Amino acid sequence: MTVRHFLTLKDLSKEELQIVLERGIALKRMQRAGEIHEPLKNKTLAMIFEKSSTRTRISFETGMTQLGGHALFLSPRDTQLGRGEPIEDSARVISSMVDGIMIRTFEHEIVQTMAKHSRVPIINALTDDYHPCQLLADMQTFYEHRGSIQGKTVTWIGDGNNMCQSYINAAEMYDFKLRIACPEGYDPRPELVAENADRVEIIRNAKEAATNSDLLVTDVWASMGQEEEQRLRQRAFADYQINAEVMACAKDDALFMHCLPAHRDEEVSAEVIDGKQSVVWDEAENRLHAQKALLEFLMAK
Ligand code: CP
Ligand code: NVA
Repeated sequence: MTVRHFLTLKDLSKEELQIVLERGIALKRMQRAGEIHEPLKNKTLAMIFEKSSTRTRISFETGMTQLGGHALFLSPRDTQLGRGEPIEDSARVISSMVDGIMIRTFEHEIVQTMAKHSRVPIINALTDDYHPCQLLADMQTFYEHRGSIQGKTVTWIGDGNNMCQSYINAAEMYDFKLRIACPEGYDPRPELVAENADRVEIIRNAKEAATNSDLLVTDVWASMGQEEEQRLRQRAFADYQINAEVMACAKDDALFMHCLPAHRDEEVSAEVIDGKQSVVWDEAENRLHAQKALLEFLMAK
């Protein structure tokens, strides 16, 4: 049987993504009821982190425990990956011993190379280009609060980064309209926007982009690896904060999401992220439930 990977949302079909979403909701209910469900007994997930993480590490590691399996935390500081062992060799060796590999890294090509040489599923836990696991949680969160996202309007305000690009994929896979408000020079990859021209639009004005939207989303202005650009970006993104005025342009029942960690009063005002329309804590918790559904889908055989 061919091995399935999860490098972007597009590695699953639309139907499979809906199955995973509904399964995430079911697993959440089961966990809250104290039900033991261990389809991954004796299975191991290797977790390679080349960048920092709170939510991703905790959700994958806890998820594996709850599913009856085990997770290995591997940092480049303590493995040969950090001393230059080729990705190809690492993929062959690690995948000969474990049942799945989760990796958070820099260039997206690294996860693609891992996938090419791995005999077990590779899960992208964030690259410079995409963060698909976060989208599983975001889509589950929207569904739980508002029902199907199909046909809705989502507004992304901020950097055209890995999260924004995953939202472009999500617009296609979950069938919604996406408006992106970002300053010039910080757009998502033009070919990705062009491929989805029927549903993705770049609007330079944040309030205009937010008008009548069902969901407003943002993320940090400087991602991991861009720390030295922080100052420059603070100036470039000054007109792209989600605050009460921007939120007021959206529908009355619009939700606010942020993958976290957040900088209050930079990309989002404290009033919005801590306000009634914000669902960021559910969104963070759903990383656990959504990824358990993904792990079960990819690894329980
Ligand atoms: N949202 C997210 O991926 O958080 P961490 O960086 O803490 O894993
Ligand atoms: N865009 C952010 C997301 C962090 C979860 C980053 O890549 O640092």
